[in-house]
Amino acid sequence: MPDAPDAFGIYVHWPFCRAKCPYCDFNSHVRHAPVDSRAFASALIRELTWFRGETGPRRVSSIFFGGGTPSLMPPAAVGAVVEAIARLWQVAADAEITLEANPTSVESGNFAGYRASGVTRVSVGVQALDDVSLRALGRQHSAAEALAAFRLAARLFPRVSFDLIYARPGQTVEAWRRELAVSLGEQQGHMSLYQLTIEQGTAFAGLAAIGALHLPDDDLSAALFETTQEMTAAAGLSAYEISNHARPGHECRHNLLYWRYGDYVGVGPGAHSRLTRDLGRRALSAERHPESWLHRVREARHGIIEDESLTEAEEASERLLMGLRLVEGVPASALSRAGVTQARLQELASHGLLALSPERISATAAGRQLLNAVIRELLRDSESFNNRPRSGPAAVQSPSDRWA
Ligand SMILES: C[S@@+](CC[C@H](N)C(=O)[O-])C[C@H]1O[C@@H](n2cnc3c(N)ncnc32)[C@H](O)[C@@H]1O
Ligand code: SF4
Repeated sequence: MPDAPDAFGIYVHWPFCRAKCPYCDFNSHVRHAPVDSRAFASALIRELTWFRGETGPRRVSSIFFGGGTPSLMPPAAVGAVVEAIARLWQVAADAEITLEANPTSVESGNFAGYRASGVTRVSVGVQALDDVSLRALGRQHSAAEALAAFRLAARLFPRVSFDLIYARPGQTVEAWRRELAVSLGEQQGHMSLYQLTIEQGTAFAGLAAIGALHLPDDDLSAALFETTQEMTAAAGLSAYEISNHARPGHECRHNLLYWRYGDYVGVGPGAHSRLTRDLGRRALSAERHPESWLHRVREARHGIIEDESLTEAEEASERLLMGLRLVEGVPASALSRAGVTQARLQELASHGLLALSPERISATAAGRQLLNAVIRELLRDSESFNNRPRSGPAAVQSPSDRWA
């Protein structure tokens, strides 16, 4: 897969959405008064400028506008942020510039403007291909609108992807097979297929707690995951990460950089950054509340509320948490630095959850399905893991967590 080890990315968070989806615990907010996009774009540029002072000159290999819903940004605001990044750092001629888009017709009306602003890749949040499921997921678009938006994006951008959520309430393997077959007919080289997770504090968590969501049991979840692996592989779009599938060469370079534990600057409310310095890694995170973040940036030139140096063990376990999501896994040397013993590795390999070679350790498809539990086991003896925060980039998301 592409990219040199010195890849450097920039993440830009747009924290606003039209409506809050009942399953989503991302840092996304609904405002009933119009959002002052100019003020937020200026603050993003102000924070980028502060970060330039921290990183010094670097070559940007990818930029990612994520959210929230960045397709609610006026194209001029996206253009201003891209231009500011190019003024502050050198941007590689072949840099990947991704924007996450929700597929309402209003937002797809912005696509041509995003392309003109330098965006090279759009990731469309299709989520489901039938209107009943889309309503149950609280989405603001129909399946027809979502497909029209994706097809328009495919005509305008060199690279496109779309997201689907499966293991939805009431979904059968047969229904998912049909939906995935249609999706595989539409895809253009990359798809993100997320198994629905019930996140604390969401509307779905409340419904699940009172038994009002008919969620797949463990066996059905496993069957849905396996179906996904088989059908995507047969179509030439194997998984390269737990939930991400691509034709070779079409992987998302920005996300690969996270999973390979490269350096990145994150700007906007709640964004995280990881920067290498002489003595280990620096981990920064910003105020999550959008207007409080805006106020901080105006006052202090940045919205950072946490700025710490990771210990060697913390860094090693983060590298593992990210890297084992990838099919390619991590270099074997990363394991010993994280305090993982040979006995634990052998035990997990004997359960068919890890594949071991002298150079690399990777999770098998079965292991990736149960990655949270595999990582818990691997790092059971590691102090830094047991004391780590339960949220933020060190937290693992895996489609299922059945192995114990
Ligand atoms: C946070 S959203 C941002 C993109 C855009 N706002 C959208 O909704 O399409 C990124 C992706 O995360 C996925 N996602 C968010 N919450 C999830 C959950 N609880 N379970 C599974 N996937 C989830 C959705 O597929 C979504 O496309
Ligand atoms: S899934 Fe996307 S649109 Fe829905 S609340 Fe989360 S970020 Fe917003």
